[in-house]
Amino acid sequence: MRTLKSFEVKGKRVLVRCDFNVPLAQKRGIILDDFRIRKTIPTIEYLIEKGAKLLLMSHLGRPGGKVVESLRLTPIQNRLMEYLDVSVTKAPDCVGEEIEKWSREMQPGEILLLENLRFHKEEAENNKGFAKELAKLGDIYINDAFSVCHRNHASIVGIPKYLPSGAGFLLEKEIKVLSQIIKNPKRPLIAIIGGKKVKTKSKLIDKISEIADFILINWLIAEELKGKNIQLKYPQKIVEPIDGIEEKDIGPKTIDLFKEKIASAKTIFWAGPLGKIEEENFQKGSKEITQAIIESGAFSVAGGGETVEFINKLGLTEEFNHLSIGGGAMLDFIADGKVVGSEALK
Ligand code: 3PG
Ligand code: MG
Repeated sequence: MRTLKSFEVKGKRVLVRCDFNVPLAQKRGIILDDFRIRKTIPTIEYLIEKGAKLLLMSHLGRPGGKVVESLRLTPIQNRLMEYLDVSVTKAPDCVGEEIEKWSREMQPGEILLLENLRFHKEEAENNKGFAKELAKLGDIYINDAFSVCHRNHASIVGIPKYLPSGAGFLLEKEIKVLSQIIKNPKRPLIAIIGGKKVKTKSKLIDKISEIADFILINWLIAEELKGKNIQLKYPQKIVEPIDGIEEKDIGPKTIDLFKEKIASAKTIFWAGPLGKIEEENFQKGSKEITQAIIESGAFSVAGGGETVEFINKLGLTEEFNHLSIGGGAMLDFIADGKVVGSEALK
C-alpha cells in the first residue's frame, strides 16, 4: 500500500477521502464531537504545506441518495476553517462539470470541500460512472477515512481504479496499530465488545475469539447470543455480565469480574460502551472499565464513535495508546485482517 509521503504532490489536485461523519445535535449545525475532523488535520496540513490543491470529500449521515438540507457539510467547512489557517470553500455538489472546472482553476494550497457524497445514491451502490466522475476531479487519490473502509462504496473502492492512490497518515496509523494487535499481540489479549449494533457484532465475536484470550461483552450482546442460540467456537473465552443495573449497564459484581480480567491483560481493545451511556444512570460500568484499562498498563486501543466520544468527555483521550476513528471498520479489520478500503489501495 502506497502512503502519502511517496507522492510528489506539488501543484497536483489531491482528492482526499475523509470521514467527517460526526455526531450532530438535532439543532442543525452543532457538532457534538469533532474527533474525526481533528484526526485528519495532519494529512491536510501536510498537503497544504507541500503545495497541493486539496479536494476533500466525505459523507455525513445516511441521506439515502437524495439531498437532505440538514446533512450538508457546512458545519464541517466551518470547523475545518477553525483548525486550519486557510479558507475552505464548499462546493454545492460533489460531481459535475462545474465542479470539475473549479478543480482545474484551483491554486496550490487551496481547499475545496465537496458536498455530501451520499446525496447521490451511486456512492453507496459503488457505481462505476460515479467513481469515474469523482476521479476526474483529482490527479491523486488519498484515503484517510479508516472508519468507512469497511464499506464497498464508490469513493472508497471505486476511485482507486482510476487514479494513483495511497493512504493518508491517519489510515496508515490505524492499519499499523491494528495489524500489530492481530499479528503479534502481547498476551493475554482481551477484547471488550459492547454497544448497540449487536447484530453485526455477534457475528464477529466468533472470529475475534480466534485471536483474543477473553472477550468481555455487555448485556445486549449476551442476550443476542443467547436469543439467537448462536454457537460459538470458543464459548469458554466469552465473559458475560453476571449482574446488572436494569440490564442497561453492568452491575458491581460484573465490574469486579471484568476488572480482574483487565488487570491481567497485556493488550486490550475496546469497542462499544458497556451500558446505555446516553443516560447518566448507566455510565458507571463504562467509566470503571475505562479506568481499569488505563490502570492495567496494557497496550490499549479503543474505537467507535460512542466509545471515543465517551473517553474524550472523561478527558482521558491521551491515556490510551490509540483511539481508532472506526467502530465497525475496526471490528471488521480485527476479525478479517483487512478491510475493502485498504485492499483497494494495493
Ligand atoms: C461510521 O460512522 O460508522 C462511518 O462513518 C460509516 O458510516 P455508515 O455506518 O453510515 O456507513
Ligand atoms: Mg457505522
